[in-house]
Amino acid sequence: MKTKIINISKIISWNVNTNSIEIIKDKDILIESGKIISISKDIDSYDEIIDGEKCIITPGFIDTHTHPIFVGSRANEFEMRSQGKTYQEISKMGGGINSSVNSLRNSSEEELYLSSLNNIKPFLSFGTTTLEAKSGYGLSLKDEIKSLKVIKKINDELDIDIIPTFLGAHDFPSEFKNNKKEYIRLICEEMIPQVAEQELAVFCDVFCEKGYYSVEDSRKILETAKQYKLIPRIHADEFVYSGAAELAQEIGAISADHLMAINEDGINALSKSNTIATLLPGTTFFLNKKNYADGRKLIDNNCSVALATDFNPGTCTIRSLSNIMFLAIQSCGLTIEEAFLGVTYNGAKSLNKQNEIGLIKENYNADLILWNISSIDEIPYWFDSANTRIYKVIKNGKVL
Ligand code: NIG
Ligand code: FE
Repeated sequence: MKTKIINISKIISWNVNTNSIEIIKDKDILIESGKIISISKDIDSYDEIIDGEKCIITPGFIDTHTHPIFVGSRANEFEMRSQGKTYQEISKMGGGINSSVNSLRNSSEEELYLSSLNNIKPFLSFGTTTLEAKSGYGLSLKDEIKSLKVIKKINDELDIDIIPTFLGAHDFPSEFKNNKKEYIRLICEEMIPQVAEQELAVFCDVFCEKGYYSVEDSRKILETAKQYKLIPRIHADEFVYSGAAELAQEIGAISADHLMAINEDGINALSKSNTIATLLPGTTFFLNKKNYADGRKLIDNNCSVALATDFNPGTCTIRSLSNIMFLAIQSCGLTIEEAFLGVTYNGAKSLNKQNEIGLIKENYNADLILWNISSIDEIPYWFDSANTRIYKVIKNGKVL
């Protein structure tokens, strides 16, 4: 079955040779078996037509950092923050990651599935066609496996592609607060081997941060992950500088995320590496912090920058990458083109999928957004309502 999209005003993608935006006019797109097989004006052989209604077509968005496997909400923490409490203080008072851990542990796999399904479903309506999703609110062998199985089930159920990350090192669960060494042993000797054996994750992440996992802890966990063929990614220098970006370079992490508190040494390390610098300005906004990651400086130092939502119950409930583009342009110093690159091709690189998604190109997946706009400036411009400008989302060639 061959589908031809006609009547397209502009196809907008990234040109990896010139490293700039590519605008293609007066061409149709031919899709077969979920792939783009031709971009041309002379397509004669096809079975059905989609009228592009003069839309702009971009690649489907790629969200490379989310924590959607949770139940309930932590809206009470918003109220505590409004009274001046910090993320770390709220955590010490019984909120934070461990409060989501308690809710998850008290839920059956079915309850967790239904709640996580509701968390994930709306992403597609914002144009996100590929999503990285982390475990990390289980923090026991059983509950981490339960979380990753839920990711797998939702991936089978929904049209969105979900790439699973094991984040057993998100926090220390309360039963190991005084025996952190033993919990790290559990991660390395039991969780990682099981996760790898059951093929439940592609990546392994660590929350490398003061009060959570030190650089030494993170190195140990991520080196073990590598032995089991899980690809490392890191929550790096989110609140306090710790040298996590340098660790990302040292171990060859595919992505170092957050970077609000990165310093010169960290930037130097990333600029020498292939590690993608992933910015999550939604978190800075949601936590009402002022120190947005300096995306401008990272890009000027030759780092590849991706953007993601960090959707999670504690520090960011934004699902829309248009919204994140807005914040990255306004507060991290990115241009509109760089923000577009950050939610498309650079996102694909951070998921090791740069040969399949993130571009509108022959042999790439037909993951497309048809926008009722006249230039990509309108994507961040309409930020929280940019989804109302989406005419259609196409995932693997299927119109949703
Ligand atoms: O990326 N930093 C660690 N993880 C999340 C927060 C998770 C939570 O508070 O539940 C983040 O900000
Ligand atoms: Fe996160």
